[in-house]
Amino acid sequence: MSSTVSDSADVIRADDLRVVYPAGKRGGTGTRAVDGVTFRVRRGEIFGFLGPNGAGKTTTISVLTTLLAPSSGRATVAGLDTTVSAPEVRRRIGLVFQSSTADSELTGRENLTLEAGLYGFSPAEIAPRIEEVLRRVELSAVADRLVSTYSGGMRRRLELAAGLIHDPKIVFLDEPTLGLDPQGRAGFWRYIRDLRDTEGITVFLTTHYLEEADQLCDRIAIIDHGQIIATGSPGELKDRMGGDTLSVRTAPGAGDLEPVVRAIPGITAVLREDGGYRLKCARGDALVSKVVLAAQTAGISIEQLAVHKPSLDEVFLELTGHAYREEGTGADEPADGTVPPPAASPTATAPAKHGGA
Ligand SMILES: Nc1ncnc2c1ncn2[C@@H]1O[C@H](COP(=O)(O)OP(=O)(O)O)[C@@H](O)[C@H]1O
Ligand SMILES: [Mg+2]
Repeated sequence: MSSTVSDSADVIRADDLRVVYPAGKRGGTGTRAVDGVTFRVRRGEIFGFLGPNGAGKTTTISVLTTLLAPSSGRATVAGLDTTVSAPEVRRRIGLVFQSSTADSELTGRENLTLEAGLYGFSPAEIAPRIEEVLRRVELSAVADRLVSTYSGGMRRRLELAAGLIHDPKIVFLDEPTLGLDPQGRAGFWRYIRDLRDTEGITVFLTTHYLEEADQLCDRIAIIDHGQIIATGSPGELKDRMGGDTLSVRTAPGAGDLEPVVRAIPGITAVLREDGGYRLKCARGDALVSKVVLAAQTAGISIEQLAVHKPSLDEVFLELTGHAYREEGTGADEPADGTVPPPAASPTATAPAKHGGA
């Protein structure tokens, strides 16, 4: 490894990145797709870049993977500047695009052979490397079938395998589970966790699925309209919502529960709502029996009690003032899923295969 490679725990750094797409033929002022984005990704973590459709995820990942020069700001990957040292960066990263890149008329193995060829592996090196990545994504048994016979999930796995062919230590995945059914998605999460756990690979992935970011990622940045609105572990972000809520419904005509629950240590707020109460606390499970007991002692009978954990949905709503939209699936993406560089910027050349030609 070259001495320019940083030993820093931050393997990806973005500092005040901005990307402005020029105004189109119809005029206008241009799109500020990425609007001053700063974050760090630590070695060996699964980092999720979460945001609704059009938030700026693909644009950011295009900058980090050297396919697009930022209008301003700076990004480094493995300590290397993505504009100054684009070829060195590219050698160290694996990249899986949002749109399908596999050739349907070839077998899975043939696709991987082509990919390995792009990285200059010798024929003797290629075969064992291909076996290794096929095994990782559990496609060994179907490697010699045409990709046209693969399911959507199998295609995605093949594309992940292709992104791993040169043994990168940092992998970028743009909406890797887009359009997969829940089972396919869960399977994909297994492979991604496996990369982190067995190889210490750093994974940067974008997603617009809240649940995916919550369950899969060690840390996430939430992006909306080109700006990061929050960064942290899913747990930290949810903790900002003031912890759990206990919803309590008392029997009709029962006495006032508010003074009773206010006296319980750990209840931080009591809100009255139609026909019941909402109690805020750090950990709801621990307080359920205390609330029941206190009500019983006061002679108030409880009809219903539920613990509600905050979700990333609520975090998003709280931070942006608008609800998260998960239904969009990329309708306003360019057809090939890649983005051309802004005309006035220094242009980083795309790798042959991913050039979007
Ligand atoms: N090549 C392009 N030219 C002009 N505008 C673009 C281009 N690519 C994306 N955009 C716009 O930039 C914004 C961010 O897009 P994108 O990075 O693709 O978001 P995401 O991946 O989060 O859905 C959107 O408003 C989108 O319409
Ligand atoms: Mg996108």
